[in-house]
Amino acid sequence: MSQSWSPESWRTKPVQQQPEYPDSARLQRVEQTLAGFPPLVFAGEARELRRQFAEVSEGRAFLLQGGDCAESFAEFSTFKIRDTFKVLLQMAIVMTFAAGCPVVKVGRMAGQFAKPRSAGDETIGDVTLPSYRGDIVNGIGFDGQSRVPDPERLLQAYHQSTASLNLLRAFASGGFADLHQVHQWNLDFIASSAIAERYSQLADRIDETLAFMRACGLDSAPQLREASFFTAHEALLLNYEQAFVRQDSLTGGFYDCSAHMLWIGDRTRQPDGAHVEFLRGVGNPIGVKVGPTTSSEDLIRLLDILNPDNDPGRLNLIVRMGAGKVGDHLPRLVQTVEREGRKVLWSSDPMHGNTIKASSGYKTRDFAQILAEVREFFQVHKAEGTYAGGIHIEMTGQNVTECIGGARPISEAGLADRYHTHCDPRLNADQSLELAFLIAETLKEAKR
Ligand code: PEP
Ligand code: CO
Repeated sequence: MSQSWSPESWRTKPVQQQPEYPDSARLQRVEQTLAGFPPLVFAGEARELRRQFAEVSEGRAFLLQGGDCAESFAEFSTFKIRDTFKVLLQMAIVMTFAAGCPVVKVGRMAGQFAKPRSAGDETIGDVTLPSYRGDIVNGIGFDGQSRVPDPERLLQAYHQSTASLNLLRAFASGGFADLHQVHQWNLDFIASSAIAERYSQLADRIDETLAFMRACGLDSAPQLREASFFTAHEALLLNYEQAFVRQDSLTGGFYDCSAHMLWIGDRTRQPDGAHVEFLRGVGNPIGVKVGPTTSSEDLIRLLDILNPDNDPGRLNLIVRMGAGKVGDHLPRLVQTVEREGRKVLWSSDPMHGNTIKASSGYKTRDFAQILAEVREFFQVHKAEGTYAGGIHIEMTGQNVTECIGGARPISEAGLADRYHTHCDPRLNADQSLELAFLIAETLKEAKR
């Protein structure tokens, strides 16, 4: 590891998953333009999220992270952002109220565009083209024109992210997230389901509690009227991320101001690689995906590099093993971290180890497998005496049919009805709420 870090020191390291831009002069001009634009978030906000992460690491709160696998230019709308935000609020309130546990809310939103791919090219019939890498890089259409990486897309992703974040900030603090609105967060299309009924009952109890607090003169706390909400995305496209590095005027430290939190994907977490080099130098809270191929040695090296001060709010290890495999890998990793006395926030991504192909050809995930992985994650932490601190999911407030199963089951044959994702299959609102109730029960049990 080189000792001196700079916003561009990653460029001297081996780098995975970057597009090949045919027009590098144009790319450089776009990078300079972005570097002159206002940042999306401020350093002080990233530090506040680190403070909240530390609360989670130490077992006093729970982390809920969710949103699209990939945001897209075509699916950009007020209603979609609003509905995803609503479901995240519902999930958070279910966990807070049913389990008495504060929930830290982080959206995979306002910047989650770039996608890692298992192959650089895609072949259909006898045509081979560069893979789609997310709307920030190239187009999803299978034609030569669409698949050329285009630097202008970085600008469009930035503008969409600023507009999304502006809306999210308004929703979080402008009255929409007021706890007195808890009934209004229920989405019309799930209003008739058993899960919505369960949510309504919980919302009734919250209403009663608020009325009681009002009667006692205790309902003036700002926390009842607004939500704190943060953004995160995979820091995959390093030239984009570098353009958002700003030096904080208060502390002199560097922050990546494209989002509050950034994470490193399972394909780019090489300790000697460019992504780790880039993120070690910024002060944001950082996530690292931990998959079945993560060795204990590499994990400790990553902790050394990314969190040399052993700060409990710095690092979120996002475990994504696949149902049935958590018990094979997680105990040794948890034991290593404990033995070395490292402070981390453990969360579960029950999505990325459970992707399957339906016979119809759709990429899907079975809701039962997702629930199984979450249960296994909690069981391992219980057995090791450590804290299962959070959940990281791909979900949407839209009534999509992308993951099979759930209380109002989606069948393989039903996938075609409303399959809209630009990348991986997401939980819909019903399935997300069902998962929230399961976690709330588990958290409540763990507290006992
Ligand atoms: C993702 O979170 O969208 C992703 C690609 O995950 P992973 O790096 O864990 O495969
Ligand atoms: Co994904």
